[in-house]
Amino acid sequence: MTEEEYILAHSDAEPDYLALINRKTHLKMINPRMMSGHLQGRALSMFCSMIKPERILEIGTFTGYSALCMAETLSETGVIHTIERDDELEDFIMENFELSGLATKIKLHIGDAIDVIQKLDDTFDFVFIDGDKREYADYYDAVFPKVRNGGFILADNTLWDGKVLKNVSSNDSQTIEIMRFNDKIARDNRIEKVMLPLRDGLTIIRKK
Ligand SMILES: C[S@@+](CC[C@H](N)C(=O)[O-])C[C@H]1O[C@@H](n2cnc3c(N)ncnc32)[C@H](O)[C@@H]1O
Repeated sequence: MTEEEYILAHSDAEPDYLALINRKTHLKMINPRMMSGHLQGRALSMFCSMIKPERILEIGTFTGYSALCMAETLSETGVIHTIERDDELEDFIMENFELSGLATKIKLHIGDAIDVIQKLDDTFDFVFIDGDKREYADYYDAVFPKVRNGGFILADNTLWDGKVLKNVSSNDSQTIEIMRFNDKIARDNRIEKVMLPLRDGLTIIRKK
């Protein structure tokens, strides 16, 4: 048994509808590894159960897996906005939201995250950044004024397969930009932060 198998055997199972979306994503998408998956999905759900956000924003929907993990914890009045740039994913995402029974809690925005964030007239308790790694610092700056004091921002893939620890070539823009984001977060004294080695690195940020 691998460490991951042991961890999953001692954590909650994926709800059936998420296991189905996980399978569909592996069957139909070229890069299914982008999906949060079982362990990180249960962690996102647990964080939301702890924080009890009413208004959530996600940058990077992909097939809807992580949006649903967060949506499952929302109260009757809670809502999650999730932004996806690739309009070819829209039908697949909506199909997944419908089969989950949680569609009424989720507002999908097809478009570029920076444009959509600027148009959203809302304040958020919890933000999950999981879009283009080269744009993390821009997402952070765009969303920060819309996060309430005491609210949380989670950023995924902040270890970027361990590449942030190595000498990177000057044309590896994703690694360079993740490193720039990590350094920016480390220096920012408006926030508390902790980086967890969960899956590909998950940074938890709390706005003071
Ligand atoms: C890693 S995947 C998201 C995975 C998903 N959050 C999950 O955990 O299952 C990143 C997604 O962000 C989308 N994306 C990239 N840049 C974006 C942008 N500027 N605005 C909106 N979506 C973007 C990509 O098309 C892709 O579907």
